[in-house]
Amino acid sequence: MKLKATIKSITLASSIIKKGGLVAFPTETVYGLGADALNPQAVAKIFEVKKRPEFDPLIVHIADLIWLKKLTRKVDKKAFMLIKHFWPGPLTLVLLKSSIVPDIVTSGLDTVAVRMPAHRVARKLIKLSQSPIAAPSANTFGHLSPTTATHVEKQLGEKINLILDDGKCPIGVESTVLSLVGGKAILLRPGGVSLEEIEKVIGKVSRQSKTKKIQSPGQLPSHYAPRTPLKIIESLDHIPDDKNIGVLLFKNPPFKLKDKTVEILTKKGDLREAAANLFSALHRLDESGVKIIYAESMPKTGLGLAIMDRLQRASSKRIT
Ligand code: TXA
Ligand code: MG
Repeated sequence: MKLKATIKSITLASSIIKKGGLVAFPTETVYGLGADALNPQAVAKIFEVKKRPEFDPLIVHIADLIWLKKLTRKVDKKAFMLIKHFWPGPLTLVLLKSSIVPDIVTSGLDTVAVRMPAHRVARKLIKLSQSPIAAPSANTFGHLSPTTATHVEKQLGEKINLILDDGKCPIGVESTVLSLVGGKAILLRPGGVSLEEIEKVIGKVSRQSKTKKIQSPGQLPSHYAPRTPLKIIESLDHIPDDKNIGVLLFKNPPFKLKDKTVEILTKKGDLREAAANLFSALHRLDESGVKIIYAESMPKTGLGLAIMDRLQRASSKRIT
């Protein structure tokens, strides 16, 4: 069932969460598939519905700092500085977990990922549920993240109790995931808060080395993939002359692309606008029936890093 987010439907949603059910809800990044984070059986349903491997830990969403204290063991100065700057917002912090966090949430890790979303509907839902909400993006595992309630409905519709609809997610890419375990800041997934913004607050952040064991399954090479093969190109001259082709452009092209299915992410060349439109454009291209998507490379600064990360994952394994 999909309902427009109103105080009435959010209250209904919170009663579903309290009873151990699943609710899809909007956040400023993407739609999440939520369950009571302290109810292991409810959380298990998330994995079932998403067909998600259980080694993949979930983000715990809170609306009040009191819960940060309850969920974690050690919150250092760096964490507090980041919280002050970026919460509520699209930054997820990985910290040592407390004993109240069920193992199924963290896949048995000793750490927990916590985020305080900024979206009005998400915050109201968490508050009314009186518990933190564990939520991955509301898509089936490895597929495109949903940035509208309709995306959720198409992928998970019948399998979940309720979808709260509040239109399009304003940021459109997932949160930045940053580990602060052991006093060292490590970027696990680029996202809605840029690396540059984070470094302005806490100084140098390291990127996880590629050879290291996967700590954040958002790092699986073929994550966030459309069904259609996708190839990243450096120049529009590399697009073959074929009308069964989809083209994902960063900005307005210098020349007209004839007979192609074209999506332009931002008319003004604004990375924030491009990020907000990314998944919707990929969903449309995926559904248009084109046999391959050519995606224009974008600058890897600011939100461009998160966009290129998602495009690279969408392109890997699909074409060699
Ligand atoms: O914007 C977002 O973060 C959205 C909205 C719904 O909040 N959620 C989201 O969740 O993208 P999900 O499950 O699709 O991605 C969570 C990422 C995964 O890459 C997961 O591996 C990582 O966070 N993660 C969660 N707990 C972790 C932990 N304890 N250590 C390392 N990585 C963790
Ligand atoms: Mg996801």
